[in-house]
Amino acid sequence: MTVAVILVAAGRGERLGASLPKALVSVCGKSIVEHAFSSAVQTENLSQIIVTVPFEQMQEFDDLLRPLVLDSVKFDVVVGGNSRQQSIKNAIDPIDSKVATVLVHDAARAFMPTSVFNDVAAKVAETGNGVLPVLSVHDTIKRVADGAVQETVDRNSLAVAQTPQGFPAVELGLAYETASSEYTDDAALFQAFGGTVVTVAGHVDGFKVTTPADLERAETLFGSNQLTGIGTDTHRFSGDSSKPLFLGTVEWAGYPGLEGHSDGDALSHAIVDALLSAAKLGDIGSNFGVDRAEFAGANGRVFLAETKKMLETEGYTIVNVSAQIIGNRPKVSPMREEVETVLSELLNAPVSLGATTTDGLGFLGNSEGVAVVATALIRRSKK
Ligand code: CTP
Ligand code: MG
Repeated sequence: MTVAVILVAAGRGERLGASLPKALVSVCGKSIVEHAFSSAVQTENLSQIIVTVPFEQMQEFDDLLRPLVLDSVKFDVVVGGNSRQQSIKNAIDPIDSKVATVLVHDAARAFMPTSVFNDVAAKVAETGNGVLPVLSVHDTIKRVADGAVQETVDRNSLAVAQTPQGFPAVELGLAYETASSEYTDDAALFQAFGGTVVTVAGHVDGFKVTTPADLERAETLFGSNQLTGIGTDTHRFSGDSSKPLFLGTVEWAGYPGLEGHSDGDALSHAIVDALLSAAKLGDIGSNFGVDRAEFAGANGRVFLAETKKMLETEGYTIVNVSAQIIGNRPKVSPMREEVETVLSELLNAPVSLGATTTDGLGFLGNSEGVAVVATALIRRSKK
């Protein structure tokens, strides 16, 4: 049972108001049409994919999409018409006679998952009907005229129509051939031709990118606005047993302190490095190096507060931090909760602390020093 997808991407995108045709507008790192195509091209049993494009950008679309097609799939770029319906009519012509099911999808629904393409195609094969992916309506709907509410519409009988809409290939061809007026979607055209249309569940991710606000929504939902960072720090235990041990800004009683330019707080320093690396702001040495006398002997709290401020200035928010102390001592479990609470409050984000030993191996196994590894996740806040 072979499937063809018609991806309609020939619109100008008047409501988006970009200088490019809408399908070429970039969102979340690539063009709208590439997102839609990547999802469509993974449809099961796909044998052909046809994209309708504006005449002027034919070559550009071809160059962009051809590398994304598997060898087993026939790929055509056709020039669209003056209306969406005309564009689809142009795309039906080159459909191979062995294709049983045609899915018509708006490139503007850039993030519709492949699972919906598969569900629609399967339902066409199973029922022989037209198939429409729908979402239920959650808001109360009113019929309004001249600013006055006429009535409340029963929302249980309503559904939001999405694409891809699927049809038996031969019937869709006949429906398009005989259509004498403009319909708002393929399901309506197919019904006017006498076809039956049944529904499957659509997907919230398949919203249509229409206005600039939709681009922002897509960026928030699918953009890579989260960044991770990693940091490590190692310090030697001091020979001076009167020096207190500071880890995670707090004092750990019963252990000698750690040596270092500051108070040797390897936990705070590893976290600072993780945060700075996530934000691409360098590392602790390049920001708080030994040349800055004000940080000599400073408590980790000073570095952490300063780092948090630097990130905020760059528009980042800390999502979470995770750190692990490596070494034979100190024993972490009695202090874990206190340190986690203090650090979480300082950074205004969850901080978790773990510990491990090295099976007695090396300078960490013989209690010469302590090492810490930390990771941080940060989020780019909206400008
Ligand atoms: N489309 C098409 N040919 C047309 C008009 C629209 O292939 N003559 C496609 C669009 O590229 C889009 C889909 O149909 O993927 C749905 O249309 P819409 O979201 O309205 O896109 P545009 O028509 O480009 O946008 P606008 O109406 O804001 O101009
Ligand atoms: Mg339009």
